[in-house]
Amino acid sequence: MKIGILISGRGSNMVAITEAVQSGLIPDSEVAVVISDKSKAAGLEKARALGVEAVAVTRKGRTREEHDKEIVSVLQANGVELVCLAGYMRLLSPYFVKAYRNWILNIHPSLLPSFKGLDAHEQAIEYGVKLSGCTVHFVDEHLDHGAIILQKAVEVKDDDTAESLSKRIIKYEHESYVEAVRRLAAGEIELDGRRVKNRQKHDC
Ligand code: GAR
Repeated sequence: MKIGILISGRGSNMVAITEAVQSGLIPDSEVAVVISDKSKAAGLEKARALGVEAVAVTRKGRTREEHDKEIVSVLQANGVELVCLAGYMRLLSPYFVKAYRNWILNIHPSLLPSFKGLDAHEQAIEYGVKLSGCTVHFVDEHLDHGAIILQKAVEVKDDDTAESLSKRIIKYEHESYVEAVRRLAAGEIELDGRRVKNRQKHDC
């Protein structure tokens, strides 16, 4: 499975997925390209250090769809089959979603459908929830909305700040994203409407 990873910043989830692919934890796969919409994203250098081609495709005043068309053409030129959004802070256009329907994943640092969008940790703390966590899900046309593959819950402590909570959640993000990509690449899961289920194994 050829994987393309989209980032906007630090890229720690991208590193976790790439290392899992390179160590064989996600077998028969390759991270073919890392793309950032920000030319200064720290993750670009981290990807290159791991031997992965990494390019910036910035928006340059174009419409969302024009920008996405260029990203999709870079993904396709690299033979990408599965797209992982890893801290990619842009909503995809319908064009992009259609080009890779059911083959785009995202990770979000909350238990969706709670606390969509930006500043998920601040939202969780302000709301006063006692559990937050992370969600790996398929991407559709709506923000943080597609079918959920995997979630991990993390306790919110009385003295948590957005920073301390995010430091606790990020470890679970790395584990969850690797596990979700492994399961999808291995053909272990299937979509049934909004529900992601373990694929039934047949003996014959
Ligand atoms: C991660 O916490 C990820 O869940 C979040 O951005 C961070 C990126 O970190 N994504 C979103 O909030 C998307 N709505 P990373 O660049 O170190 O992987």
